[in-house]
Amino acid sequence: MRNINIGIIGVGTVGRSVIKILEENKEIISARAGAHLVVKKGVVKNLSKIRNISIPLSTNIQDILDDEEIDIVIELIGGVKEAYEIAKSALKNKKALVTANKAMLAYHRYDLQKIAHDIPIGFEASVCGGIPIIKALKDGLSANHILALRGILNGTSNYILTQMIQNNQDFQTSLKQAQELGYAEADPSLDINGGDAGHKLLILASLAYGIDAKPKDIIIEGIQSINADDIEFADEFGYAIKLLGIAKKQKDEIELRVHPAMIDKNKMISKVEGVMNGISVIGDRVGETLYYGAGAGGDPTASAVISDIIEIIRGKSSLMLGFEQTSQISFKLKPKEKIQSRYYIRLSVDDKSGVLAQIASILTQNNISISTFLQKEVKQKNTAKMLLATHMTTELAIKNAIDELKNLESILQDPYIIRIEDE
Ligand SMILES: NC(=O)c1ccc[n+]([C@@H]2O[C@H](COP(=O)([O-])OP(=O)(O)OC[C@H]3O[C@@H](n4cnc5c(N)ncnc54)[C@H](OP(=O)(O)O)[C@@H]3O)[C@@H](O)[C@H]2O)c1
Repeated sequence: MRNINIGIIGVGTVGRSVIKILEENKEIISARAGAHLVVKKGVVKNLSKIRNISIPLSTNIQDILDDEEIDIVIELIGGVKEAYEIAKSALKNKKALVTANKAMLAYHRYDLQKIAHDIPIGFEASVCGGIPIIKALKDGLSANHILALRGILNGTSNYILTQMIQNNQDFQTSLKQAQELGYAEADPSLDINGGDAGHKLLILASLAYGIDAKPKDIIIEGIQSINADDIEFADEFGYAIKLLGIAKKQKDEIELRVHPAMIDKNKMISKVEGVMNGISVIGDRVGETLYYGAGAGGDPTASAVISDIIEIIRGKSSLMLGFEQTSQISFKLKPKEKIQSRYYIRLSVDDKSGVLAQIASILTQNNISISTFLQKEVKQKNTAKMLLATHMTTELAIKNAIDELKNLESILQDPYIIRIEDE
């Protein structure tokens, strides 16, 4: 059996797991790859950290990029700019590339595809860690038009929401717990503001539709403002609240969005709880398929990294993102303001007569009709909470209505919306 030499740039949580699994599962991995996988070098920032690994380490990235004996470069440092430079240099030096870096791919996946030509790039670990969703979209479902995809793509935010719903905890307490358990980063902003799920949805949208969108092009909202009123309302009307990445095809237009959504409690995806990830993909021929598993963590993510290495060694080569649009297959990103949904709206208002009429009038002027209405008592004097759900309307209509509502004197806090995903 031949040897394949690997260089790992970034030997942290995932890098260490890659090295450990390559060692501990080496017989089955060699049998599957038809080669011995040898980690020749690793590169880190700080050589004095204790890592309990036996491979040679350096702090010079060029030690891997310039080593002619290294066949495959694994980029596991994270971040966008430096990781992109590493990826470009690896490809220019004709080395296959494996990366788990969703942030870098959210911006540069098409740049890399262009540079790569026939040099393989694996990125299975970039979306939902151990779940093989990239291979499912690129290969398994390739006979289908993807009609819709809905995913819980970020485990940290799913853990926080699960704690809020099941244990009546508030957002801050649940976030703190996620940090104590090591699920959330010291800076958890991309987990809770939807940014991380947005990066992953953009990667999936390329595989499903060939769409080259960037984070600023799509709706990305997080879970920071969800409170107990929203959870109670959802529960009463048979919904769970999840941070969803959604892609939907309507003829040639594709809508892409990440936001908290109320979804039927009985749907399989509503039952994806805690730190787990889950994705539902509906193909026009296969129907609905579901994927569930650990979306992060050293070993699950390393499992995906190593599956890419094995695929590269086996020599299966295809365009990085599966396909490119043609004159016959050309999908466009749907403008945000044209996206349609039902909406839940939470309003904190002056508890006096005439306020409800003012609110109803603004909604009517924007062609928004109400399907459900609840008024809740609150402890503060002269304050009422109104929770309502609308029929189908557009982002533009809801945005205009919310802007007008904000200007009403009787509205005490900015209105808060959650989209309702009924389909
Ligand atoms: N952790 C997960 O569960 C998970 C899941 C899916 C995807 N990912 C992705 O996988 C990648 C790696 O994540 P991770 O959790 O393993 O990160 P991590 O634990 O922070 O490890 C990063 C590694 O990169 C090294 N590094 C950082 N900047 C460097 C530089 N300029 N030059 C050389 N080495 C540098 C660090 O060196 P030192 O050790 O010396 O500091 C460390 O070894 C990221 O793109 C992340 O988004 C992670």
